[in-house]
Amino acid sequence: MKRIIRKIIPVIVICLGLTAIAQEHELKIDATKSLAKIQPTMYGIFFEDINFAADGGLYAEKVKNRSFEFELPKMGWIEPDSDRHSFNKNSGIAKIVRYQDESGNHNFARITINDASGYKLINEGYRGMGIKENAEYRISIQAAQPKGIEKINFKLIDESGNVIGKTSISVDSDSWKTYESVFTATKTLEKARLEVTFEGNGAIDLDMISLFPVDTWKGRKNGLRKDLVQLLDDMDPGFLRFPGGCIVEGRTLEKRYQWKKTVGPAEDREILVNRWNTEFSHRLTPDYYQSFGLGYFEYFQLAEDMGAEALPILGVGIACQFNTGELVPMEDLDPYVEDAIDLIQFANGSVDSEWGKIRAEMGHPEPFNLKYIGIGNEQWGPEYIERYKVFQTAIQEKYPEITIVSGSGPFPEGDYFEYGWEQLKKLDAAIIDEHYYKPPKWFRENATRYDDYDRNGPKVFAGEYAAQSVAIASPDNKNNWETAMSEAAFMTGLERNADVVHLTSYAPLMAHKEGWQWTPDLIWFDNLSSYGTPNYYVQKLFANNSGTDLLKITENKKALTGQKELYASAVRDTDKNEIIIKLVNTSSSEKEIEMDIKGVRLNESGEMLTLQTSDLSAENSFEKPKNISPQTQNVKLKGRELEVDLKPYSVNIIKFKIN
Ligand code: AHR
Repeated sequence: MKRIIRKIIPVIVICLGLTAIAQEHELKIDATKSLAKIQPTMYGIFFEDINFAADGGLYAEKVKNRSFEFELPKMGWIEPDSDRHSFNKNSGIAKIVRYQDESGNHNFARITINDASGYKLINEGYRGMGIKENAEYRISIQAAQPKGIEKINFKLIDESGNVIGKTSISVDSDSWKTYESVFTATKTLEKARLEVTFEGNGAIDLDMISLFPVDTWKGRKNGLRKDLVQLLDDMDPGFLRFPGGCIVEGRTLEKRYQWKKTVGPAEDREILVNRWNTEFSHRLTPDYYQSFGLGYFEYFQLAEDMGAEALPILGVGIACQFNTGELVPMEDLDPYVEDAIDLIQFANGSVDSEWGKIRAEMGHPEPFNLKYIGIGNEQWGPEYIERYKVFQTAIQEKYPEITIVSGSGPFPEGDYFEYGWEQLKKLDAAIIDEHYYKPPKWFRENATRYDDYDRNGPKVFAGEYAAQSVAIASPDNKNNWETAMSEAAFMTGLERNADVVHLTSYAPLMAHKEGWQWTPDLIWFDNLSSYGTPNYYVQKLFANNSGTDLLKITENKKALTGQKELYASAVRDTDKNEIIIKLVNTSSSEKEIEMDIKGVRLNESGEMLTLQTSDLSAENSFEKPKNISPQTQNVKLKGRELEVDLKPYSVNIIKFKIN
C-alpha cells in the first residue's frame, strides 16, 4: 500500500509542477561469485605530524620543549619574575648549557636562585595543558648538581594562578638522576600551565621536565592520548601509514625525517623542527617541533595494537619539491638506502641483529612482521625514478618478501602523474601511491576512475585524498557534509575496483583546534576532547564494513557510478558471514530502491546504517560532535527482495547475515 501511495505521489507532484520526486531504482546483486578479494588493507590510516597531530596531540606529553632543545631553547617557558638585565635584582634565572658529549640531547637548563620566594619557571604547554579533575598525572625530571636546593615544587595553575594540582620532588644526587611523582588534579581545565618553584637559594641543573597523564592508551607509561587512539582504533584500520606526508622529505635534506633518530630512550632522541611550522603564512606555528616521543617504535606498536599493517614511508634523497627540491647526488645515496634496509631489520630482524637488538631493548623482542615499505612520499620526475630504482634493487635483493610502495607525485593527473606511472610500470612496481585533494564534484564525477586501469599492472594505494570545500590547503576548507558524502560516492568506486585498489586513506588525519596548519582534517581535538567529522564517519563505516569479497551490483546491467546520482558497491564478508551493500544518494530527492539479491540465503532481518542531512554545509563540532553520525534502523527482506528508501544526500550501509 505504501508503495502504491508513493507511486501516485509523483504524479500529483508533477501535476503541481514540483520537482523533488522520489526516484525509483531496481538493483540486482549477484552473490553467486566473488569478483575480487577485498584486501584487508583496503581502508587504512594516514598519519602525519601536521596540525599538532603528534606533539600536542596523540603523544600525551603536556610540556612543550621539555628538554630545552628548540632553536630558541627557552621557547614555551616563561620566567615571570626574572629581570634579565640585572642579575642582582633577579630572584633567579634559567640559563641554557650545552652538554659536552654530543648525544641527541644537546641542552639542559641551569637554574640559579637568588630569592626562592620570587622565582618561577612556567611551561605554557601546547596552547595550554588539558587537565582532568580526579585524574592522575606523572611529573618527571632529570636533575643534577643541586647546590642549596633540596626540593622542587610543581603546581598546575589556571590563568589567575589558582592551583589545581601539585606535588614536590626532593633532589639528592650530584650526578644526573631521574625523579618522578604522581599526583591528582582537583579541577578540569583546558588551558592549565605548569609552574615550577624551588626551595632554597643556590643552583640546580634540570632537563626533561615532563608531565603525562597516567591514564594513557593501554596504560603505557608516557604513552599516547587515549581518546585520540580510540577514535583511530574504532576505525578498525587495515594499515597505518607513517610518519607522513611531506614531513618525511623535509624542506631541506638536512631537516628530513630520519627514523634512526626517533628510536631508543626518549630523552636521547634528537628533536627536529616541524616542517609545517612556518609553511603557511596564514597559519604560522613557530613553536612546532618534533620531540619524536612518538617515534618509529611507537608507530609500529600502535599499528600492532590496532591490528593494522605498518606502512612506513621513507625519504628517497629528495627534499620536498614544493620547497627546495634538494637532491642527494646519486653517488651519496647509500646512507639513504641503508636506512631503508636497516628499518626492515629494526622491524623484523632477530634480537641478535644490530637493529633488532634495539627493538628488543625497547621492549619488543618479537618481530613487528613488517610487510610494506614506502619509498618517497610525493616525489616526481626522473630524479625520483632514478633514485627509486636503487632502493628497489637493494630492497628486493635483501628482502624480496617486502612489498615496496612507490609514488606518482602530488596530482592525480598531468605530466608528473603520467610520467611516474609509465616509468614505475616499466620497473614492475608493486603498488603506486596516488594523491587527490579535489573539489567534492570531482569525487562524485570520478567514481569510475579505476574502471579502466590495467588489471595486470601495479596496484593502487589511494594514499592521500580529501574533498576540499574551497581549495587545497585553504584555511577556509570545511569538513562539511558535501565533502563527506562525495568522498563516500567516490569510495564505492574504490571498492568496486578492489582488484586494483589495495589500500586507501584520507589525509590529513588530525588537527588541534588552535594548533592546525591545514584543513580539512578527519579528526579535530582540543586539549581535553576530540570528535570525528562527517568524513570520519564515512571512513569508519566503510572500514568497519569492508568485507572480504566483491560482489556485482547493477541497475539495468550497469554498475552504479553516479547515473541519476546513485552510487553503489556490494561485498560479502566471509568472516562475519554477511552481505553488505553500500548505497550513496547524492541527489536532493529520496530514492526508492528495490533490490534483488541472488545466490545466498539471508536472514529476513537486516540492519541499515545511515549518515544523512539535507544541509550540505552541515558539520560536526565540539558542541555537536555527533551532529552527523550513523543512525541505525532495521530492514526486512521479502523473499530475495529488499525495498528501502534512501533519504536525499545520504550514505547507507545495509547488512544481512547469511543463513
Ligand atoms: O596531507 C598534507 C600534505 O599533503 C602531505 O604532507 C603531503 O604528502 C601532501 O602534499
